[in-house]
Amino acid sequence: MKTCIVYYSKHHGNTKKLVDAIAGADGSVTLIDVTEHPDADLSAFDRIGIASGIYFSSFAAQIVAFADARLPENRNVFYIYTHGAPVGGFLKGIRSVVKKKHCRELGKYHCLGFDTFGPFGKIGGIAKGHPTEKEIAGAVRFYKEL
Ligand SMILES: Cc1cc2nc3c(=O)[nH]c(=O)nc-3n(C[C@H](O)[C@H](O)[C@H](O)COP(=O)(O)O)c2cc1C
Repeated sequence: MKTCIVYYSKHHGNTKKLVDAIAGADGSVTLIDVTEHPDADLSAFDRIGIASGIYFSSFAAQIVAFADARLPENRNVFYIYTHGAPVGGFLKGIRSVVKKKHCRELGKYHCLGFDTFGPFGKIGGIAKGHPTEKEIAGAVRFYKEL
């Protein structure tokens, strides 16, 4: 099974820490930064991870647009995301694209990610120290158990 993870991780590289650890544990995984490869061809992959920091309660607009344009139909998809707030319905937008493409959802892994957006920056940020080593290891475990 060929696996790739497409990702958007621009705030502090929090989400990238998770996908880098997964790629470190499984050298066959292809990582694709959607900002560097907006036209990437995913047709060769049957399992596709979609990874993003959360921006305005959603996966980054760039990765949602990427998935809308480039996610092939009928694939196995999993989600990885990091967020500053403890809870939220963050999957809504990306999930509607995945459903539209008739892809199967294999699961999701998410954790806190250091957040200095707007007023949080003035107080030194929230979710400091996240993702922790334990959370990063949790992402690898999640991937291995998919
Ligand atoms: C412009 C902006 C908007 C954000 N909006 C939210 C939000 O709505 N909810 C939330 O929990 N975190 C929000 N965050 C925090 C990020 O989701 C969090 O820091 C995440 O770990 C960033 O991932 P990245 O470093 O991989 O880009 C926001 C951050 C930025 C910069």
